[in-house]
Amino acid sequence: MKFFIDTANLKDIREAQDLGILDGVTTNPSLMAKEGIAGVDNVLKHYKAICAIVDGDVSAEVIATDFEGMVREGEALAALDEKIVVKIPMIKEGVKACKYFSERGIKTNMTLVFSPGQALLAAKAGATYVSPFVGRLDDISSDGIELIAKIRLIYDNYGYETQILAASVRHPMHIMQCAEIGADVMTGPFSAMLALLKHPLTDSGLAQFLEDHAKANS
Ligand code: E4P
Repeated sequence: MKFFIDTANLKDIREAQDLGILDGVTTNPSLMAKEGIAGVDNVLKHYKAICAIVDGDVSAEVIATDFEGMVREGEALAALDEKIVVKIPMIKEGVKACKYFSERGIKTNMTLVFSPGQALLAAKAGATYVSPFVGRLDDISSDGIELIAKIRLIYDNYGYETQILAASVRHPMHIMQCAEIGADVMTGPFSAMLALLKHPLTDSGLAQFLEDHAKANS
């Protein structure tokens, strides 16, 4: 399973990249705003900075909600770097824009997906990635992980090549549940990836090894 980091924070992206486990980055307008990135030129500059750090795909979201606007913004984003994936909201105009980009070989990520039907439409429009939001469904007492399983089944039924990018992943159990189902990618905070490391028996076992080594070598 590929690990994408869901942030526009350059320090976190660098740290995850340095750990050697990072396959890509996803951003959204809220994450860009959180880093204080505003204005078209600054936004484009920031995406270039992210692309310079990572080896894999970098999702950059359009702001426009009409077809022409999405095409204009998406083409400008895609021209920045071959790592750029144009991230498009799951609305009617977005489906049309997704089809437009996929026919031209530009990578796409259909975002704000909350139902299997929306994921089916994304695949039919030729999306490179579909982003079902696990955490936000859990937030409203719905089952985000069940959505990933349903999409996996539908895509496998027909051999759709669209990759399931489990988004809005919040904690290590989400990551493991997505891996068990067979999500192609997960995107979440660096803290959720680091939490996979933790086990008390690892810590106590290492402490014991070091203590025994120190005794034997004193
Ligand atoms: C998807 O790509 C979004 O950027 C993201 O995963 C949303 O996560 P959140 O629900 O934690 O904001």
